[in-house]
Amino acid sequence: MGQLISLYKYYTTRTDDPDPLTTLTSREVFLVQSSWDPIKKDLTGYGVQLLLFLFKKYPEEQQNFPFRDMPFEELGASKKFHAHCSNVMYAVDSIIDSLKDGELLVNILEKIGRNHHRNTVKPISFWHVKETMLEFFKKMMNDETLKAWDKALQVAFGVVAKELDKKN
Ligand code: HEM
Repeated sequence: MGQLISLYKYYTTRTDDPDPLTTLTSREVFLVQSSWDPIKKDLTGYGVQLLLFLFKKYPEEQQNFPFRDMPFEELGASKKFHAHCSNVMYAVDSIIDSLKDGELLVNILEKIGRNHHRNTVKPISFWHVKETMLEFFKKMMNDETLKAWDKALQVAFGVVAKELDKKN
């Protein structure tokens, strides 16, 4: 048992093994995935909180969504809004889940980029989501974990942004 625990610790705390595609180390992946676990238990609930926080921080972002005409105060009770929050969070969940499989991760991210390209979303919107997530996580995560999230989101949304920047 002791041996198993030290093997687990060895593989989850390595800081010298950056993935060739994502540059994330085992330690960074471990920090991001383990801090996502409590959020995973209520993806839609956290998604609603996150998107409401996004619109508070960047009110112009609401204009890029299908519920642009709904007053901010009514969003929290709208199932249409909840459904979108759920979509976003399940997509984030599949990103976090595939951090250890760089090739799968890039394919998921390019697909998200292509789908949002169709909706004429600009990269700045994804950077706003990143800033919102980091600020939201501040109350639940320590500095090392936040730094790992910052790096993971930078890498992930960088792939999305590249797709969004494509001409067609
Ligand atoms: C501010 C940034 C974002 C904007 C403006 C945006 C906008 C949109 C729009 C307009 C749609 C189409 C909705 C519809 O037709 O009903 C959509 C769908 C969707 N969004 Fe976003 N989105 C943003 C961020 C994200 C993020 C960060 C994720 C997850 C990583 C995400 C995941 C999805 C998914 C999974 C769908 C539904 C399926 C699809 O079209 O891929 N979105 N988004």
